[in-house]
Amino acid sequence: MSRYVVSKVFLGITALAIVASAAGAGEKGAGSAAGRVASQSPLIIAHRGDSKVAPENTLPAFASAVQAGADLVELDYLHSSDGVPVVFHDGKLDRTTDACRLWGGTEIPLESKTLAELRQLDAGTWFDSQFAGTRIPTLEEALGTIQNGSMTLIERKQGDPETCVKLLTEKQLLDQVVVQAFDWEFLAGCHKLAPNLVLGTLGGKELTTEKLDDIATTGAGVVGWHDKDTDAATIAAIHDRGWKAWVWTVDDPDRAVELVRAGADGIITNRPAAIRQAVEAALAPK
Ligand code: G3P
Ligand code: CA
Repeated sequence: MSRYVVSKVFLGITALAIVASAAGAGEKGAGSAAGRVASQSPLIIAHRGDSKVAPENTLPAFASAVQAGADLVELDYLHSSDGVPVVFHDGKLDRTTDACRLWGGTEIPLESKTLAELRQLDAGTWFDSQFAGTRIPTLEEALGTIQNGSMTLIERKQGDPETCVKLLTEKQLLDQVVVQAFDWEFLAGCHKLAPNLVLGTLGGKELTTEKLDDIATTGAGVVGWHDKDTDAATIAAIHDRGWKAWVWTVDDPDRAVELVRAGADGIITNRPAAIRQAVEAALAPK
């Protein structure tokens, strides 16, 4: 994969040295999460996979995001009732599966079902009939698809640090993924177990000094902040602490360009191909 190295000049001007690089995903030595996060070029991160093209948080969405050249591919996970990390966004199964039709009732919690039960569900038809029969993947399966060409940004929605770190250790992926969460205590727990695991703190609203001080206790090197609460000062405050600033979820190309010009290091988007095109066009030398 060809990637861009962009040198940023602030005060409203972004200058650009675009060079082809051999830092493609999956290449030995270029595949470390620390290396990718340190990139000087803005990272394009596919939110829940290529989720405008295929059903969110499924293997087809992840494969499409890898194909689209996403620098990282974000997913969400929770635990099944028998303790298996499974890839899914909502706490309830209703929106993106046929659980209600199959089992009756509404507001069915994912965590009330075993992996075997979750495997019965269709997680594709709600999006488009061409994805009928698509299953909820385990975190392990999703990692297998994404790491084969990109890098996983794992968002933990529910589950303990021990299970997460154990899985990544067994898969020998501790240094090849980024783990993020809104629950900063979870991240601190991961950091204690695996000090080299690259972590991202998620949040929104005003980024106060108190929040920055809390983030500093987690061991995170990335701060992922809500788009509507992010401006150049937010990004500068993150950079002042020595961290990378990622913004979620940005689907408007003009806004993505504005954020990158303000210094954002990563754009988390449902439209990775369109956002990459816009950012690269805006940063290309005139
Ligand atoms: O990557 C951050 C973003 O995914 C957080 O929001 O609700 O889409 O998981 P949500
Ligand atoms: Ca997420």
